[in-house]
Amino acid sequence: MPLPFPFIVGCDLAGTVVEVGHSVTRFEPGDRVWGSNQGLLGRQGTFAEFCAIDECWLYPTPDGVGDEHAAAVALVGITARLGLARDARLQKGETIFVNGGSGGVGSTVVQMAKAVGARVIATAGSDRKVELCRKLGADFVINYKTQNLETELKRIAPAGVNVWWETLREPNFDLAVGALAARGRMIVMAGREARPPFPVGPFYVKGCSLHGFVMFMATPEEQQDCAEQINRWLVEGKLKANIDRVLPLSQTAAAHRLQEESTIGKTGALSGKIVLKP
Ligand SMILES: NC(=O)c1ccc[n+]([C@@H]2O[C@H](COP(=O)([O-])OP(=O)(O)OC[C@H]3O[C@@H](n4cnc5c(N)ncnc54)[C@H](OP(=O)(O)O)[C@@H]3O)[C@@H](O)[C@H]2O)c1
Repeated sequence: MPLPFPFIVGCDLAGTVVEVGHSVTRFEPGDRVWGSNQGLLGRQGTFAEFCAIDECWLYPTPDGVGDEHAAAVALVGITARLGLARDARLQKGETIFVNGGSGGVGSTVVQMAKAVGARVIATAGSDRKVELCRKLGADFVINYKTQNLETELKRIAPAGVNVWWETLREPNFDLAVGALAARGRMIVMAGREARPPFPVGPFYVKGCSLHGFVMFMATPEEQQDCAEQINRWLVEGKLKANIDRVLPLSQTAAAHRLQEESTIGKTGALSGKIVLKP
């Protein structure tokens, strides 16, 4: 995508409004705000002491919610809410499977699915991360490194899962479609290079649907709706930021390397978000 140069990286932020432009109506200096969707589509990023941002991408930070938490929940929170409410339409009492429940997106999906009253099955890659998923509210956690996913899913959800949330960049559609219940919904939101085989027959005969999206293409109105619900859950304690570590802003390049190695290189060094503090 087109980016300005020199380019400031960073998508999320939280802080206090210092100044507003003439046509700004939603905020005034002194307001605490959080937001996301920057460093994209020609917009500068947020890893800086000060940012100039269109008010449509900002939301009020509730009292009692720290800036670190608001920033860490921003992109993953909007992503999880868009996928669960707008696309998968997860309902109370349904079963959802989250592949990658300890990650930035996955740990947020787990909490939001619990908040709407779903039964949650998640995967994680170590005993420590299995425990983290349980603490976040997952009813069942499968260690994908030591357990057989297909067997465990059949045991836990013999009638299939209503929603499969895939966070991996190379989804296994044979496994996912096999595990979906009739009229099941699958979310894909990663893996631009991925071209995996797709089992068309079993998929359409079950009446399943597949939903793909990128959060940055959602409209400001859609993202504001998500932010309102995120704020409610933050206040009620139903949603907590999953912060792996806080680093100084001067460590931006190191933080990027760490994130890339963990998510793309699959070192699994992180479980959750990195927050950078000026
Ligand atoms: N479409 C969008 O709008 C959107 C928004 C945000 C992110 N994304 C993309 O979504 C992906 C996930 O982002 P993230 O921030 O959540 O990444 P992340 O924090 O690195 O999480 C990755 C997750 O994948 C899990 N995992 C790795 N290998 C696995 C395997 N073989 N089986 C099951 N789980 C496995 C990891 O589990 P363990 O650590 O427990 O091993 C971890 O929970 C990234 O590719 C990102 O670019 C897309």
